Order: sequence, then structure tokens, then C-alpha cells
Amino acid sequence: MNLTEKINDRLDQLSDMMKDGKVKEAARYSLLASGKRLRPKLMLTALKSYGLDEKPYIDLACAIEMIHTYSLIHDDLPCMDDDDLRRGRPTCHRAFDEASAVLAGDALLTEAFTILSRPHPLLSAKQQLTLVQLLSNASGQCGMVYGQQQDLYYENKTASLSELQNIHSYKTGCLITVPLQMASVIAKEADLPVWGEIGQKIGQAFQIQDDILDVIGDESKLGKKTGMDAAHHKSTYVSLLGLDKAKEEVERLYKETLEAIYGLTINHGLMIGILESLVHRDV
Ligand code: IPE
Ligand code: IPE
Ligand code: MG
Ligand code: MG
Ligand code: MG
Repeated sequence: MNLTEKINDRLDQLSDMMKDGKVKEAARYSLLASGKRLRPKLMLTALKSYGLDEKPYIDLACAIEMIHTYSLIHDDLPCMDDDDLRRGRPTCHRAFDEASAVLAGDALLTEAFTILSRPHPLLSAKQQLTLVQLLSNASGQCGMVYGQQQDLYYENKTASLSELQNIHSYKTGCLITVPLQMASVIAKEADLPVWGEIGQKIGQAFQIQDDILDVIGDESKLGKKTGMDAAHHKSTYVSLLGLDKAKEEVERLYKETLEAIYGLTINHGLMIGILESLVHRDV
């Protein structure tokens, strides 16, 4: 089994522990659809780059994916981006109903912390508390939720470049950075600041690429509708600087990320492989 299959398998088992009913069905409908699993893969690859076995930590990586999936379910709601297609399927609220989509998001968010706070054979209670704090900060009103608030605030307004970077940093950067920080807490806490810097650069590059793909991407590959940012008058890198400059910015951030990676004593090739697939993607 490759890493994606291992993550999918465990997500299936973990989410099957929910109580039967519509909310479980809605949560599993979105969670088990074909996501790229980038955030759990970032955590597990960072652990491997330190020479650690990924297996004991797969549940923690799945917890991050649950939070990410919750953020997508809510992001698609009519009161937010009002999208109909996600991960190649009708969005959760379209396939079920709005109440089930809201509750499925709530369930995935909460379930993630249930999983993260279970006693772990290889981690101290102090380390686990640090992981819980990192993930809750990254997800909450001082993290992703704040970014989503700012993203909505700037609909129909033009954000400046620094305001846009700030939106990206919170709405996307936080949940891309936290898997790397969590791996660092487990493998080598002294490296935390460097991973924080790397994660923010990848997060920016990842969101710029998402904005680029919203303009030039292939709907059937992406599994979500394109052209939605323009339709919702979102401020994006493309709307602000144009496609070419947006692409240049992705390259610049990627190069800076590589430099930071080489500053760490890890297996660089493993991290570069995943970064490459993440930044230079067409899905
Ligand atoms: C989509 O994230 C939301 C953004 C932060 C751009 P992904 O592109 O990682 O979506 P999935 O998980 O593969 O569906
Ligand atoms: C979403 O950004 C970021 C989060 C869900 C936190 P977008 O709104 O650009 O993501 P897509 O394009 O719908 O996947
Ligand atoms: Mg959005
Ligand atoms: Mg959206
Ligand atoms: Mg987008």
C-alpha cells in the first residue's frame, strides 16, 4: 500500500467509529472522496525525513485531514463559497442537506481532537498537549477560521498584496504548516521555527496555485468547478497581479522553500518529492 492508500484506509476505519446516521454518512461522504491527502502526507513524510517510522503516527495525520475536510464542507456552504462540486462529487450540502453538512463538519472537527488526545504509546502527555495546542491554534479563530473570515470580508473588495498574503497565510498556510510542526514536535522540537517558515511558504505557494487553477485548471481533474473566484469577486493573486506574475511567485516561493529545507538535517529528497508534487500540480 502506498502512503495515500494507508491514509485512506485509516480514515475509513476511524470515521466508521462514529454513531450511525445521516451525519456519519455525510462526514464519510466528504472525507472518503478523492482528496489529495496533502496535509497528512506532509506530516508523515516529514517524520520519515527524520528516519522515523510513520505507522504509529498515522491517526494523528488523519486527524489533520478530518479538520481540513470539515473546512472544505463549510467552505462550500451557500453562506460561504456556495459551491456545487467538491472532490469530484456534489458538495456535502447538495448531496445531503445544509444541516447535515454543518453537523458533519462539526463532527469531523471534534473527532479530530478525540483522536489526537487519546493516550499514545510513544508520546509524552506534554508532547500530546503541545500537538493539541498547535492543531487547535491552526484551525481556530486565530488560524484557518480567521483566514476564512478575511476571505469573505474581501469579496467584492480589492485586497492589497499584503492583505491577500495575510488571508492566504491564515486560511491555507495554517493547516499546511501544522502537519510539519507536529512532525517536528515528535521528531526534533528544536527545528519548529524552521518548519513554521517552510510551511508558510508552501501554504502561500499552494493557495496561489489553487487560484491559478481556478482560472486555467481542468474541472474534471480538479473535481471542483473552475471560475468560481471571479464569479464571487474574490481577491486572488491572479486577479491582483495576473497569471504570469502569479506563476512567477509560485516559483520564487518554491525556491525559497528548497533553501530552507536544505538548512535542516533530514532526508531532503523525501521532502522535495512531496513539495514538488504539491506546488507544481495541475490537480
Ligand atoms: C483545497 O485544498 C482548499 C485549499 C486550501 C486551496 P486541497 O487542494 O488540498 O483539497 P483536497 O484535499 O485535495 O480535496
Ligand atoms: C479554501 O480556499 C480554504 C479553506 C477551506 C480553509 P478556497 O475557497 O479557495 O478553496 P476551494 O477553491 O474552494 O477548494
Ligand atoms: Mg473559500
Ligand atoms: Mg472555496
Ligand atoms: Mg480556490
